[in-house]
Amino acid sequence: MTPITRPLTPFDGQKPGTSGLRKKTRVFMQDGYVEAFVQSIFNAIGGVSGKTFVVGGDGRYFNAEAIQTILRMAAAQGAARCIVGREGLLSTPAASNLIRKRGADGGLVLSASHNPGGIDADFGLKYNIANGGPAPESVTATIHEQTQGISEYVTLETPDVDLGLLGETALGKMTVEILDPVADYAALMQELFDFDAIRALIAGGFSLKFDAMHAVTGPYATAILEGMLGAPKGTVLNGVPSVDFGKGHPDPNPIWAKPLVDMVMRDDGPDFAAASDGDGDRNMILGKGIYVTPSDSLAVLAANAHLAPGYARGLAGVARSMPTSRAADRVAEKLGIESFETPTGWKFFGNLLDAGRATLCGEESAGTGSDHVREKDGLWAVLLWLNILAARKISVAEILQDHWRSYGRDYYSRHDYEAVDSAAAEGLMADMNARLNDLPGTEVGNPPKVIARADQFAYTDPVDGSVSRNQGLRIFFADDSRAVIRLSGTGTEGATIRVYLERYEPAGGDLNVETQAALRDLAAAVNALTGLSERTGREAPDVMT
Ligand code: G6P
Ligand code: ZN
Repeated sequence: MTPITRPLTPFDGQKPGTSGLRKKTRVFMQDGYVEAFVQSIFNAIGGVSGKTFVVGGDGRYFNAEAIQTILRMAAAQGAARCIVGREGLLSTPAASNLIRKRGADGGLVLSASHNPGGIDADFGLKYNIANGGPAPESVTATIHEQTQGISEYVTLETPDVDLGLLGETALGKMTVEILDPVADYAALMQELFDFDAIRALIAGGFSLKFDAMHAVTGPYATAILEGMLGAPKGTVLNGVPSVDFGKGHPDPNPIWAKPLVDMVMRDDGPDFAAASDGDGDRNMILGKGIYVTPSDSLAVLAANAHLAPGYARGLAGVARSMPTSRAADRVAEKLGIESFETPTGWKFFGNLLDAGRATLCGEESAGTGSDHVREKDGLWAVLLWLNILAARKISVAEILQDHWRSYGRDYYSRHDYEAVDSAAAEGLMADMNARLNDLPGTEVGNPPKVIARADQFAYTDPVDGSVSRNQGLRIFFADDSRAVIRLSGTGTEGATIRVYLERYEPAGGDLNVETQAALRDLAAAVNALTGLSERTGREAPDVMT
């Protein structure tokens, strides 16, 4: 089995974004496209000789084919071992765990996360480094550089590996190890959480539903919730992964997981419900009659994490992405621990976690996680919530009320304008950037709100000193409300404008206003300031989380 070198011409646009390379599936299916990107990764990391990689994905259309390509190339180029989830399945957090646990040199994770799957939908490929986390910008920049000058790749001509067969097989001189994607992850969860207490909670009649959205968490949730924790069969909804996610949009938010939200809003609905996304790193938390915003979820988890065995010693610090509400900062302050504000993207938490500065991290984009892996982790968040509910023996709604009564409430919502004309979106950002210095003191909206300050968020990593600029426009108002505007880095069609709105209500104030009503004036002020509706031709956002 001699390695074969084949010529390649570089493809335009193989630039990793917020979370790896994400494109339409048909783009990935072009001849040589996966090969060019994978070879660029291999070149960027100084070759693969003697190395071990974890390879797996969320099971979407083209997942298995891309894995075969990766395995052949890794084998041809001297990799020692590839650890692959059975049928090519690995949730993103499970892949992160395996990289760490097995001391792998890195991992290739195939997913477009919460984007739809299918031949006419989206695909993605991301490289994770040895700490289990997404490659930092220095690495992704080198990968991008490589993609621009790539002229050949090296592979083998071999039949496909049977991804369904557990155990070790040889591919050339490389070992392919196919393992149960769930086992190691489930063992880790059992170490972190009080499974006995959660089992007792469920046995006592506490009812729950988990919507796997036809994506990768199905097997994980079924094994853990229904298997290990004794939840009744049928607790996990849409639990069989399918290549097109049942033609759905596997994004756990109130729009795409509406049936679940409707369910908890009914009087006979479950006490608790949750959902995860395509690759299992996002989460949505619901209680009877209530949706928990991701920002509040992070704050509640930070305030209560010590109730779970894995965090009983307390937290080193809490980190949140800049557009995430400041609710978590208030908890950190009370606990007397450090809090961090990072740019959007889980990769920015990696250094803080590695350095032991942060224990919990979270983002408004439905990601929460901790130092147990280096990715956000949907099912982990669900289990931590269940552990807290089991320990406190009160409802989700009561936990939130109690939290707001102690810390005040950060009313929060994100408004998304999707598939907007790119030029219009970029024009809006450019104009706002040009006006930044003139904004302080300006009054906008009706009733008028005064802008206290405005900037483009820049981040200096406290661990390695690297600087990331232009990470989103922040507008702070004199009444302590805040708006953030940024363009999505994960879309595959036109531009998505995200407007993040938040308004703080102190502990003694009105803590039970409907969220959109609480933020109406702020949203109107942002519209007046930016000309968002006129520029985009949109009357209202496509998604409000
Ligand atoms: C991915 C990343 C997250 C990030 C999110 C933002 O899910 O893993 O860390 O928060 O993208 O996406 P956006 O579309 O807002 O750039
Ligand atoms: Zn995801």
